[in-house]
Amino acid sequence: MQSGGPALALVAVTLIGGALPAAAQERYWPCLACHERQINPAAFATSAHGLISCADCHLDVPLNPHARQSQPSKPEVVVLAARLRGKGKEPVALASCARRDCHADVFAQVRDSVHGAAVLEGKPDLARAAAYCLDCHGSPHRIDILSRGEERKVKNAYLCAKCHADPKFIGQYGLNPHVWSTYQQSMHGRKARLASGGAASCSDCHGCHLIFRKADSRSTVNPANVAATCGACHKGAKPGFATTFSHQPNTWKGFAIGWLAEHFFAYLTFGTIGFVALHVMLDISAQLRKGLRRGRRKERE
Ligand code: HEC
Ligand code: HEC
Ligand code: HEC
Ligand code: HEC
Ligand code: HEC
Ligand code: HEC
Repeated sequence: MQSGGPALALVAVTLIGGALPAAAQERYWPCLACHERQINPAAFATSAHGLISCADCHLDVPLNPHARQSQPSKPEVVVLAARLRGKGKEPVALASCARRDCHADVFAQVRDSVHGAAVLEGKPDLARAAAYCLDCHGSPHRIDILSRGEERKVKNAYLCAKCHADPKFIGQYGLNPHVWSTYQQSMHGRKARLASGGAASCSDCHGCHLIFRKADSRSTVNPANVAATCGACHKGAKPGFATTFSHQPNTWKGFAIGWLAEHFFAYLTFGTIGFVALHVMLDISAQLRKGLRRGRRKERE
């Protein structure tokens, strides 16, 4: 086995080498020689990170497996990794997105958001539960080159639903339980499912990385900002218009405008049907009475 290892690795490298472009081979063949079963080289090569090397994220993994764990040279990554221990198997690789030469700007936004604050400062179970990069972007080895258009909206909605539509999760973290059902019932949810028109998905109204609580003045759904958020699509939307959408169920106490609209249309529909039915019944009874009278007159004659 001792002598078979390197030979097998060499065979693996040759096999992988055949399937990958030359530039990619150079960047990750040393790692894939041993890790091909965990990382699909073709999926990695065509992902958003296909042009960087394994060691760009796995800063603490030495190329030589006999070497001792190396300390990553980026201090910002080391500090962050210590706080991300609960969130992934390889905290250093996860923290490396915050490198100044990578996604430092996105990281700063996520760090400030309601999710990032929970991951980095919350109690251990909340820190594990709240959304961080991989919860929304999937496997680090096959990060999608972001899709655009209508398909994206449906995908984004299901992305948030993974947590915000899970009753157990909602109960545990005290979140609004009506978010998913009210979205699905809204014109936006219906349009997104039909994949037609530009209806809003979760991130159109809440943002992607800069997501805050409603009460936070930075939130896109804070009463001071929500009209502008709707206004991106509904030109000239006023604060009054913004109140026509809510994640509260249509009850008098929860969401009075929705309740009134629903009841108005229900009464209108039943009222119309009832009126037509009454009209038909009165008409039939009048015809019957007329018929009876005619019959009696004939009998008398
Ligand atoms: C000669 C074979 C070999 C090479 C080359 C190699 N590794 Fe590993 N790697 C291993 C073994 C063996 C383990 C331990 C696996 C275990 O404990 O289950 C490991 C563990 C790891 C782990 C921890 C994963 C886990 O499941 O705990 C990471 C991350 C990793 N390697 C990344 C890399 C990267 C990145 C490279 C290239 C810079 C690389 N490796 C090169 C053999 C290798
Ligand atoms: C964009 C950054 C990034 C790149 C590039 C990257 N990795 Fe990873 N890798 C991660 C992160 C983050 C994790 C931890 C995933 C988790 O917690 O679920 C990880 C996990 C791993 C593991 C642990 C085992 C597992 O089940 O996934 C191995 C092995 C590994 N990477 C090898 C590689 C190899 C080999 C390459 C190059 C082909 C590579 N990585 C490229 C970020 C990266
Ligand atoms: C709550 C979910 C969520 C979290 C957490 C999240 N993202 Fe995103 N991210 C998104 C969405 C949604 C998009 C937009 C996708 C689209 O337009 O198709 C996006 C877009 C991006 C983009 C491309 C656009 C841009 O703004 O540059 C990058 C890069 C990115 N995210 C990196 C990260 C990193 C790094 C982290 C962790 C520090 C992270 N994301 C955490 C949801 C998330
Ligand atoms: C991995 C699970 C997870 C995913 C995915 C996720 N969230 Fe969250 N979200 C949470 C948790 C947990 C909290 C509670 C944080 C806290 O209480 O500090 C939260 C809080 C929020 C809040 C504040 C809620 C409140 O009641 O104050 C909003 C708004 C929010 N998320 C929107 C979104 C949107 C939009 C998406 C999709 C782009 C999304 N979330 C994806 C787990 C998630
Ligand atoms: C049309 C815009 C719009 C869409 C689409 C939308 N929301 Fe909201 N969301 C709002 C508004 C406005 C509020 C604040 C009023 C309320 O709570 O009803 C809100 C509040 C929330 C809250 C509670 C925040 C707090 O601090 O109380 C969460 C969680 C949330 N939304 C998640 C989602 C998720 C997940 C989706 C997708 C399934 C989604 N939203 C789709 C507009 C939207
Ligand atoms: C990403 C764009 C976008 C955003 C942001 C957006 N909407 Fe919409 N909304 C649409 C589209 C598209 C429709 C479907 C219009 C149609 O079919 O007539 C729609 C339909 C509606 C409807 C149904 C009535 C109608 O005109 O058909 C209401 C009510 C509504 N939106 C309210 C809101 C509110 C309130 C906000 C902000 C909290 C908001 N929207 C944010 C795109 C958006």
